[in-house]
Amino acid sequence: MIKLKIISSGKAVTAEIDSGLSLLDILRSRGFDIYAPCGGKGTCGKCRVSVRGEGEVISCKYFPDRDIEIILPGEQEAKILVHQTDFLDDVPFRQRLPDNPSSKIYGVAIDIGTTTVVFYFLNLVTGQVERISSVLNPQAKYGADIISRINYCQENETGLAELRGSIVDAINRELKTFIRKKNVVQDLIEEVVVAGNTTMLHLLLGRDPVSIALAPFRPAFTEKQVCRGSATGLNINPDGKVITLPCQTAYVGADIFAGLAVLKPVSRNYLFLDIGTNGEMAIMKNGRMFTCATAAGPAFEGANISCGMAAVTGALSHFNGPDDYTVVGNSEPTGICGSGIIDIVAWLLKNRLIDETGLLKEPYSIGPDSKISVNQQDIREIQLAKSAICSGIRILMKVTESAFDEIDALYLAGGFGNYINIDSAIGIGLLPAEMRGKIFPVGNSAGIGALQYLKSDEIDKRISGLLENSEYIELSNYDEFMTEFAMNMDFPGK
Ligand code: FES
Repeated sequence: MIKLKIISSGKAVTAEIDSGLSLLDILRSRGFDIYAPCGGKGTCGKCRVSVRGEGEVISCKYFPDRDIEIILPGEQEAKILVHQTDFLDDVPFRQRLPDNPSSKIYGVAIDIGTTTVVFYFLNLVTGQVERISSVLNPQAKYGADIISRINYCQENETGLAELRGSIVDAINRELKTFIRKKNVVQDLIEEVVVAGNTTMLHLLLGRDPVSIALAPFRPAFTEKQVCRGSATGLNINPDGKVITLPCQTAYVGADIFAGLAVLKPVSRNYLFLDIGTNGEMAIMKNGRMFTCATAAGPAFEGANISCGMAAVTGALSHFNGPDDYTVVGNSEPTGICGSGIIDIVAWLLKNRLIDETGLLKEPYSIGPDSKISVNQQDIREIQLAKSAICSGIRILMKVTESAFDEIDALYLAGGFGNYINIDSAIGIGLLPAEMRGKIFPVGNSAGIGALQYLKSDEIDKRISGLLENSEYIELSNYDEFMTEFAMNMDFPGK
């Protein structure tokens, strides 16, 4: 037996283990959340931890064979957008009356994102949101994107149970915090409404997600699911309800439709775009909706970028030159998140340090001691990701015979869409220059959609109406998609 001493957030725990397991597997099995974007395949280099006397090691490639002391990275706070914005509707509240008039009852709206999970605790008697909180999705230790997590389920007998357990535990921790802070009992939480992409909902309910990643990409379910609290493992009233909102397809999930249902469009024709590891998009044209999805990969989440990281403390999030940048938590930069890398690439282009083909003259270093840098491979990753999104938009426009001048707005949903600098995104060709001046970040539309669903029956009707009136476009059926994709790899010219 080998003895490990694990130091995390100043506390030490010891563990005795047999040799043969990777340090990442050991830490995961002990409940430690180690960021592991490639899911332990040894290719991303992000799962580093410190081993006393040895320095930093890549935990998925490190197999302890003697007693060691491990120091884990500090707790990181995610930068997550949670509030209502002017672009999102606030529907009239439907009051619920508890059996005991002096009692309170609560509902919780949850947006399970691949990277972050946001919670809204709603008093079902008064209609007041009493707490909003957010955490990083602990499933990141199994991979940054949905495909890595599905692969983990496929390759490991207990994979689905582990992934399900990790999100259920994270939700239960937040429920426990609320219960403690409000001094209420668990049974008073009567309803939970969940938005998320199709894979996240499968993992929450313990349904096999493997068919999502295999042609013909048919998920186990797309319809709204209503479960008893006791069947989900969530610590709420066992007779309470857990509702997962309906999805359209394997890659256009409940998060998109929850967001669309609360959008207050300023016009009849608009585009809606949620950029993450996938780019999900919709166009509303003359009263009919068309959707599609494109795989951007995890570059915009910082995962395929050499110094990339999530938008947590230490991440360089905005860049306007070597002496003009912003870091989450106002600390020294320890890496670059998605919005930061877009700004850096736009700045390098503007200053001719990369050309239109993406050729970088030499690695570009930033920050004190030039500790963080951008290299040629990083630029290539951004080119792939931005081309996937941009090509998806252009094919959607073509298929629906739309011209940019008849589209009045492009709404950007999700945290990433809200933090990117729109000029930088247009500068690198991620967003269409034709929409300049008509691009509006709308906030966390999926989370607000789930919250409004909890408030009123109206949103259920709106989502059903939108689903009935929409058509999914499978981009891989269009030969022009690959041509567009190749053409959009270059950056826009001057
Ligand atoms: S290198 Fe270990 S998780 Fe990617």
